[in-house]
Amino acid sequence: MHADVKCPSTRRLFVTDKSRWSSTAAAASTAKPDIENAPLSQDNRKPKTGILMLNMGGPEKIEHVEDFLFRLFMDRDLMTLPVQNKLAPFIAKRRTPKIQEQYRRIGGGSPIKMWTSLQGDGMVKLLDEMSPDTAPHKFYIGFRYVHPLTEEAIEEMERDGIERAVAFTQYPQYSCSTTGSSLNAIYRYYSSKPTKPSMRWSAIDRWPTHPLLIECFAEHIRRELEMFPPEKRDDVVILFSAHSLPMSVVNRGDPYPQEVGATVQHVMEKLNYCNPYRLVWQSKVGPMPWLGPQTDETIKGLCQRGKKNLLLVPIAFTSDHIETLHELDIEYAQVLGKECGVENIRRAESLNGNPLFFKALADLVHNHLMSRESCSKQLTLRCPLCMNPVCGQTKAFFASQKH
Ligand code: FES
Repeated sequence: MHADVKCPSTRRLFVTDKSRWSSTAAAASTAKPDIENAPLSQDNRKPKTGILMLNMGGPEKIEHVEDFLFRLFMDRDLMTLPVQNKLAPFIAKRRTPKIQEQYRRIGGGSPIKMWTSLQGDGMVKLLDEMSPDTAPHKFYIGFRYVHPLTEEAIEEMERDGIERAVAFTQYPQYSCSTTGSSLNAIYRYYSSKPTKPSMRWSAIDRWPTHPLLIECFAEHIRRELEMFPPEKRDDVVILFSAHSLPMSVVNRGDPYPQEVGATVQHVMEKLNYCNPYRLVWQSKVGPMPWLGPQTDETIKGLCQRGKKNLLLVPIAFTSDHIETLHELDIEYAQVLGKECGVENIRRAESLNGNPLFFKALADLVHNHLMSRESCSKQLTLRCPLCMNPVCGQTKAFFASQKH
């Protein structure tokens, strides 16, 4: 196993009994690859199809944390604050030391760029074989809050002379706060330029129930269930944990809660409903109401009710990030689990470097290119209570692209 301080991607086993506390790196087929020494396959052929992998990103180094937070608090598609230009830098600065400490504890930075590069590489290799007509394919990374920023990636795609561009969200379930914000960034980029895009754009804007995605989650859950003591296995409660949303976003009509629920239902169906389960929500911040039940409250409540064997499954993010490596693994599994007296608490590994996941990504892009659709029908509908005019302009931008 690769105990690497920069990218802590080992699965951890948290076993508690009254006298013992251990955290053990378990061997996994999707262990962290030695990516620094493994050159990616993007070659020097002129690419025809560009796939822009969209995500929020995460600071790779401690010194990038403040910039990351600044961009996040400045994002008006994610949140609106009074006097945002002044408040955003203030809040970012104030929160930086605490968040830096969290990144220190997971090894000094976010592994998301490393995983996205590996996934993109696996995806385009498969696509070149599956879809020779649209080859060569090249992936680009477009992060919202750290480099490479979405705007920088688009510039590179334009320079490369891409003919066909696919905005491919890396969030399986759509939220206006995540995918919507990234798509708005693409629209804003072009609306700030005097010229039209030279590429034909389309978007893969959601994929919550893609069969290979479901298979990947089911595979990781099965594998983790096997690690529980046999006599406890049937008693394990599977807790699917997704990033929560403020109720103001949910009540405006954001589709995310419904789409996360769809993923959970398909995964459990694939597993033949082998264990009891709940969908819970993590990462609430601030005093305003957020979608619940919260993951930490759920762990406490279940332990109080005698359910002390728990499997946490990150269901709305496919790669490891601070919310898996710190919030789930350290805050909940280690610290809270111990306080609550859990017997066994484990976390299903994120999809990270699973080759089946690369296949899922390639299959999504291949089917999308064949469909000649510019986006899903669902993308064309604004939230019923949306107050952000850019959402409407972005949807019109993608819907009007001709294929
Ligand atoms: S907030 Fe959902 S479409 Fe604008």
